[in-house]
Amino acid sequence: MSTTQMGPDVNPIAALRELFYAHYRFQYLSAGYRLGLFELLGGEPGMTHPEIAARLGLRPQPARILLLGCTSAGLLEKNDDCYRNSAVAAPLGAAPTDVPAAFVPWEQHVNYRPMAWFYESLKAGTNIGLQKEIPGDATTLYERLALNPELETTFHNMMGSVSRIVAEDLVHRLDLSGYTHLLDVGGGTAVNATHLARRWPNLRITIVDLPTVAATANEKIAAAGLADQVTAVGLDVFRDEFPKGCDAVLFGHFLEIWSVERNKSLVAKAARAVDPGAAVFVVTPGANDDGTGPDLAAALSAYFLTVASGEGMVYTGAEYEEWLLDAGFEPSGRLTVGNLGDIVITGVRK
Ligand SMILES: C[S@@+](CC[C@H](N)C(=O)[O-])C[C@H]1O[C@@H](n2cnc3c(N)ncnc32)[C@H](O)[C@@H]1O
Repeated sequence: MSTTQMGPDVNPIAALRELFYAHYRFQYLSAGYRLGLFELLGGEPGMTHPEIAARLGLRPQPARILLLGCTSAGLLEKNDDCYRNSAVAAPLGAAPTDVPAAFVPWEQHVNYRPMAWFYESLKAGTNIGLQKEIPGDATTLYERLALNPELETTFHNMMGSVSRIVAEDLVHRLDLSGYTHLLDVGGGTAVNATHLARRWPNLRITIVDLPTVAATANEKIAAAGLADQVTAVGLDVFRDEFPKGCDAVLFGHFLEIWSVERNKSLVAKAARAVDPGAAVFVVTPGANDDGTGPDLAAALSAYFLTVASGEGMVYTGAEYEEWLLDAGFEPSGRLTVGNLGDIVITGVRK
């Protein structure tokens, strides 16, 4: 329950206890997932404690603790001596590259330790969590991931799982029939681009992303048989100008990473790269215009400060519209997209 949903009848001590215990609950979820508990009970519901301990290779008491916590957290149900997955745990049986399973290694291996430096990051106004916990010298998570292939895969599995859901809806929500060449800024491993290319076969797409990511994107594009239509170019969007010749620009899950100043300069860079009539699309998790939430915006904002970049947060639709207007784009609408809390802010170059 988010604090904004608490009514006058809420017992504050009980509500605080929920918050104190949240990190233990995640560890029960993560350990259960990594041990294969939910997969085991998904295939063979009704197993007992000794059977589960034997199958997971745990001694009896640690297995008992795991089952106690997973049951108390609502992940398992116990009837007589038999355990089964609850409706909450059932979706964890999805492919490890899909929502929600892709989030378990992401939260466990990338975010959990860095987020313990949230207080220090607030005080310093930068991403102390990244600096303390993720190997490398670079200032952003994305650049450090380039040195950590396992973590980079964990990140792109998580990001891809979200982007697929968004992209599957985006292809129906955006009308790109009037455009010839889309620039996909920070386009990652081409999840959005491959979906959009299939939907709009006459649309060329150029992805710009960091070189290691662009290389992976080009492999995925070739494997999808879309190399004639989609190309990924390795560059740093803060050092390099955007390629010219595009008549639409997509910022997909990108601008929330950066500070207000950098976002204004990126939007201005997009405006310089296109002619009047070109479109801009900003796909981003949305924050309520009144600053009250939602939970997703709060969680991601803490992550952008503490881990990802040390400077971003989930901004409101109104802020994006103001930046577009200042850069020379006329805001032309707001859509919700997917079912995970994303919005699209659209604009047209004046
Ligand atoms: C959150 S992901 C979004 C990926 C994709 N647009 C999507 O919606 O799935 C952000 C992307 O920005 C890229 N990125 C970060 N810093 C960058 C930079 N300085 N220049 C170019 N790309 C960058 C990362 O490599 C990553 O692929």
